[in-house]
Amino acid sequence: MDTVVSGIRSTGNLHLGNYFGALRNFLKMQTENNCFFFIADYHSLTTHPKPDDLHGNIKQVLAEYLACGIDPEIATVYIQSDVPEVTELYLLLNMNAYIGELQRTTSFKEKIRKQPENINAGLLTYPVLMAADIIIHKAHKVPVGKDQEQHLEMTRRFARRFNTMYGVDYFPEPDAYNFGKKLIKVPGLDGTGKMGKSEGNGVFLADTPQEIRKKVMRAVTDTGPQTPGEKPSEPVQNLFNIMKVVSDPATVKYFTEKHASCEIRYGDMKKQLAEDIIKVTDPIRERITEILSDKKYLAKVVSRGAEKARASASKTIREVREIIGYRSF
Ligand code: TRP
Repeated sequence: MDTVVSGIRSTGNLHLGNYFGALRNFLKMQTENNCFFFIADYHSLTTHPKPDDLHGNIKQVLAEYLACGIDPEIATVYIQSDVPEVTELYLLLNMNAYIGELQRTTSFKEKIRKQPENINAGLLTYPVLMAADIIIHKAHKVPVGKDQEQHLEMTRRFARRFNTMYGVDYFPEPDAYNFGKKLIKVPGLDGTGKMGKSEGNGVFLADTPQEIRKKVMRAVTDTGPQTPGEKPSEPVQNLFNIMKVVSDPATVKYFTEKHASCEIRYGDMKKQLAEDIIKVTDPIRERITEILSDKKYLAKVVSRGAEKARASASKTIREVREIIGYRSF
């Protein structure tokens, strides 16, 4: 059985992109692999959340994981900060991570551009902490989106470097797991680009049907096709792409033909799209609410997850310390 590790940062509610891009893949993997799914709450500190928000954000993502069907009886579901072994491995890996390679990381360079007022050392060493998350369980596969490919490459490099440095074959080199050609990109409702947590273009799993209808009805379109068979503009194509993910093929076909014959009414298409999104999200939203109100259950999941994750992590740390040369007196 392969070991699978993946995490999502606790920086906001999960949206349709997270669901179709990551979570549905977690679900497919959980029965056939030894899975560790965690909430990356240390990573979320790079943006300095308020203490009052931190816990709520962690709890929300946890409830969303569970509401989507991640089964804590099968997978190990835990909170990163409950596993201090991760921070020890992070420290040890930092000694063999070079400033130059960290500064050249695309995500770091992007942060410098986007938030020059907060370039903290945590951002610089973000890939090292992520590598620690992954190799602490000696993972083989890491289901992540395309944006994480470079981080995975660095994880492999850190694992390999450790092995070479100590002349061992200890850490496997984990692969980004992309589910072949079926990688799904969910576009946002604002006409261009992908759905994001902070772009204001997302439909969240926790949104009510009214909120979803409002958001979808406001989605960007165009003035309508002018000549039969004309290619949809980008904003309209984006709506078709969301539709392909959430609706029946027959629905997609119907509106595609209406567009091709210039008879489409975007209002009708949006109404249908909103209802089809709601069909996916509403059962999840109801479970999120239910799970959030069950404090006892959440506490049980968290403590059981921490226990299982720490058992795996502390074994690795014990062995790593031995390899590095820490011996008992
Ligand atoms: N960097 C990931 C993201 O932004 C989150 C993450 C942190 C992660 N540690 C990880 C993902 C380990 C997979 C494995 O989405």
